[in-house]
Amino acid sequence: MAFLEFRNVSKVYPPNVRALENVTFSLEKGEFVFVQGATGAGKTTLFRLITREERPTKGEIWFSGRRIDNLDSQLVPFLRQRLGVVFQDLELVPEWTVYEHLVAPLFVLGMNGREALQAAKKMLSLLGLEDKSFFQVRCLSGGEKQKLCVGRALIHRPKLVLADEPTGNLDEVSAMEVLKLLFEFSRREKATVVVATHNRALLGCFPARVIFLEKGRVWEGER
Ligand SMILES: Nc1ncnc2c1ncn2[C@@H]1O[C@H](COP(=O)(O)OP(=O)(O)O)[C@@H](O)[C@H]1O
Ligand SMILES: [Mg+2]
Repeated sequence: MAFLEFRNVSKVYPPNVRALENVTFSLEKGEFVFVQGATGAGKTTLFRLITREERPTKGEIWFSGRRIDNLDSQLVPFLRQRLGVVFQDLELVPEWTVYEHLVAPLFVLGMNGREALQAAKKMLSLLGLEDKSFFQVRCLSGGEKQKLCVGRALIHRPKLVLADEPTGNLDEVSAMEVLKLLFEFSRREKATVVVATHNRALLGCFPARVIFLEKGRVWEGER
């Protein structure tokens, strides 16, 4: 069985916005995948169905051997603990430091202070943000904020990572750095990493599978 599977999934927002139409695909462990589509194609909706912020109107979603579209809501926090999510709108706290953003998810998972500190140190060096550890987020550049979002999503070493337009507001150099972090994480941890992007120019930069999303419908093709 695939690691993540969409079976004939449709999502209609009221009153009648057809965001996804009969979407079927499956992802294996360790795959690095782009989901490419124009603004409004349904990329964020696709992710929100996996994180259970939304539920499909029709169809089934399976993750790691379990059906998640109808998962008991009491179990949703456990599902989310297994995911790493880079949100399209970042969702950082301006007054928190870089360090606080990195250790917070580990404390939620019950890790002790010593272990969390070690993990944060390692991540800071991976991100190249060692010198900014105690900076408040409001003092960071756009590229640094985006890297921090990636670091926060990866720090608990999830097996499925969803990155929503992680290069959306970045110059080319920072965009490549961010993608490289995600790509190398996928290789190192054998994690499935899905990167949603509207930017076709990114597709050739990494040996990735590409799923195209057009007005809520998927198709796959060669880049
Ligand atoms: N909460 C919502 N309520 C109603 N319509 C929505 C909602 N979220 C997204 N949509 C609509 O669904 C479609 C897909 O949106 P979205 O998933 O955000 O696409 P993308 O991330 O590819 O830009 C768009 O037409 C958008 O306006
Ligand atoms: Mg989006």
